[in-house]
Amino acid sequence: MKIEVLTLFPNMFACLNESVIGRALENEKFTLNVTDIREYSTDKHKKCDDYPFGGGSGMVMTPQPIFDAIAAVDPNRDCKRIFLSPKGKTLSQPLVEQLSSEENLLFLCGHYEGVDQRVIDSEIDLELSIGDYVLTGGELACMVAIDAIARYIDGVLGSSESTNEESFSNGLLEYPQYTRPQNFRGMTVPEVLLSGNHGEIDKWRYNEQIRITKEKRPDLLEEK
Ligand code: ADE
Repeated sequence: MKIEVLTLFPNMFACLNESVIGRALENEKFTLNVTDIREYSTDKHKKCDDYPFGGGSGMVMTPQPIFDAIAAVDPNRDCKRIFLSPKGKTLSQPLVEQLSSEENLLFLCGHYEGVDQRVIDSEIDLELSIGDYVLTGGELACMVAIDAIARYIDGVLGSSESTNEESFSNGLLEYPQYTRPQNFRGMTVPEVLLSGNHGEIDKWRYNEQIRITKEKRPDLLEEK
């Protein structure tokens, strides 16, 4: 997969060079190109924002640098083009999985009070939100989406990591995990996990998933 990011703050994306995603990029499991929208501004001061027509507070990102940046990085429109916005469709694990099967993704990060609507109307395939709250810009939301999507790309997770048995993988929250020591300061590990009886362990884990989901996220059970 190739991921293109368009932003006014390319340095923020240094976070993705760490940990699991950093390792995957180094091993070329997918490619990530971060483009500074400002480089495409034809304004002599490289200005990328202006006052909103109709008045109101804040600034709006102007269309010219964004149209030109998109045309430069995705000339044949072979990326699914995503704009990060609190107005978008809320990211969920099924949507993450669906996006991970795309060949190429392009993320446009907005700032200030938003971007000129003509960009969204003519250039964007999907508006995406990471939740019902407002961030100062789309960059953090974009990194959240990339992190979640990249986990589904072949070879990104190591053999000991997996998307099979984790929260949301079967619509339920994950069961509790324990490691050594068996007794830590008087707190012990559930006996069944030490039994070696895999049938009983599976049963216990499933019951724990139901119990925890009921307790923490009953809405997930209602959806089923
Ligand atoms: N930009 C600002 N807030 C956002 C959110 N909640 N999701 C995606 N992009 C955003």
